[in-house]
Amino acid sequence: MRIPIMAGNWKMNCDNDEAWDLAVAVADGVEEIEGCQVVLCPPFTALSTVEEALEGTDLALGAQDLYWADSGAFTGEVSARMLTSCGCEYVIIGHSERRGRFGKPPEDDPRLLTVFGDNDATVNRKVRAAVAADLLPIVCVGELLSEREAGQTDEVVRQQVLAALEGLAEEDILDLTFAYEPVWAIGTGQVCDAPEANRVIRLIRDLLAEKVGTAEAENLAILYGGSVSPDNIRGLMEQPEIDGGLVGGASLKAEAFCELVRVAAEVRGA
Ligand code: PGA
Repeated sequence: MRIPIMAGNWKMNCDNDEAWDLAVAVADGVEEIEGCQVVLCPPFTALSTVEEALEGTDLALGAQDLYWADSGAFTGEVSARMLTSCGCEYVIIGHSERRGRFGKPPEDDPRLLTVFGDNDATVNRKVRAAVAADLLPIVCVGELLSEREAGQTDEVVRQQVLAALEGLAEEDILDLTFAYEPVWAIGTGQVCDAPEANRVIRLIRDLLAEKVGTAEAENLAILYGGSVSPDNIRGLMEQPEIDGGLVGGASLKAEAFCELVRVAAEVRGA
């Protein structure tokens, strides 16, 4: 049976004081809950603070990105080894806000749409660097609204998944957690229909099965992300293929995030 995962992507929020308070509040709030792996992904600057706050708990620490080289002249970048030295177990890779595929360019300058510039090739490099350092990648895939409207969802997701897996050994693929994050659902309040998210996640599992075999693919957790909230989590978790969430907005409120964890554990424990 797959253990659900609830990962909080704090994005560019929380200074160190705020990060400490939020991490402690989440850790306290989920202390009694069993059967759901909780992962907190603060910004780089708060990793060590959150590591300390989570000491002695079952919660895991994750980063929001990494660079594939081990060290060198890469101003502003952070390597896998730096992340493990801060206590990270997980790392988010290929979030749409990093892929430069975000549906909402800054209003004052649309040229900045691709400012972070990740693509399928850089995502693959990052995944390989992460697994080589024993980090567990949470790999984000998902289509733009225009791609969905053009009927290209399955093909876009298929390409992103296969590109992320390129060159990986079977045993490395088993360390991956994919997150299906339709770009139009992120931060918009417009959650993807639960059965439709379930369908796309099944498609991802089938692609993984082609690489690692059906039995192994059935053991891999695959998450949904995009406007997950206490209002919609139950419907999502009741879908057989959805094994948890990658949560932005609602992960910044301890009470709401703990409720997501509680429901995930309850539905899967039942
Ligand atoms: P959201 O973000 O929950 O605020 O929609 C999800 C994500 O970006 O991973």
